[in-house]
Amino acid sequence: MALVTLKDILPQARKQKRAVAAFNVANYECALGVIRAVENEKLPVIIQMFQRMFRSEKGCDLAASLVRMAHRCSQPVVIQLDHGAEAWQIRDALSAGMSSVMLDGSTLPYDENVQLTSYAADYAHRVGASCEGEIGHVAMGDENALTTVEDAVRFYNDTKVDALAISVGTVHGFYKAAPCIDVKRCREIADALPETPLVLHGGSGTPPEDVRALIENGITKINIATEFMDTFLKSTKKQFDILEGKFRAVDLFNDPVVDDCAAYASKMLRFFAGK
Ligand code: 13P
Repeated sequence: MALVTLKDILPQARKQKRAVAAFNVANYECALGVIRAVENEKLPVIIQMFQRMFRSEKGCDLAASLVRMAHRCSQPVVIQLDHGAEAWQIRDALSAGMSSVMLDGSTLPYDENVQLTSYAADYAHRVGASCEGEIGHVAMGDENALTTVEDAVRFYNDTKVDALAISVGTVHGFYKAAPCIDVKRCREIADALPETPLVLHGGSGTPPEDVRALIENGITKINIATEFMDTFLKSTKKQFDILEGKFRAVDLFNDPVVDDCAAYASKMLRFFAGK
């Protein structure tokens, strides 16, 4: 039984200057790859689902499966809603048994972000779950807004989130140009919030030396979506090419794809843990 919350794994990771990987999944095979990697590496993990999946039956259906997988895993596993945008998504995700939620109000005016995030944190805490919020904005095809130390401290105190996503130069998706990562800003925020687990969104393609420096300076949770999903897609294409038009049952077709996903997840888990 290893379904846990951010509160169970991140404070200790912050003290030990290591980060926990948070992989976004949209199907069973990717999730299975993560769980296999976690069993091999004997490290905790966070498995996330984008909020858009809760706009159809996909969200609750997959959440139920992820929760079951977490329960049978020997290592601590958090199942989290990623970038929750509205209160009903927070309620749906927690009703589906997920152990954590993120409320992303980073594009809203400060007071609205605080109001919505506080609601999510309060609701999550009442049902024994955890909550992540974001201040500053990590670009998703729009403009980055780097987090200031003052905003980080104020937002954390105003919302009581369990993990705080900050913007220090990463962006979501593949980089179009080399990112300019502001390690100094991260260090200053970490110094001002010495016990708060800080979250890095946009982990895909971020140079490893920058990632290492950010982990040394307070980043405790690192989100990876694009590169992990791309691993799944490229591996699927490879299997199609190998088949040369012949039929294979889908579960057997997917086995090597799961292996590739597990290998990618293992690599990131180890790197973030400093191994
Ligand atoms: P990437 O897609 O850049 O890895 O970002 C993932 C993320 O931050 C999800 O919240």
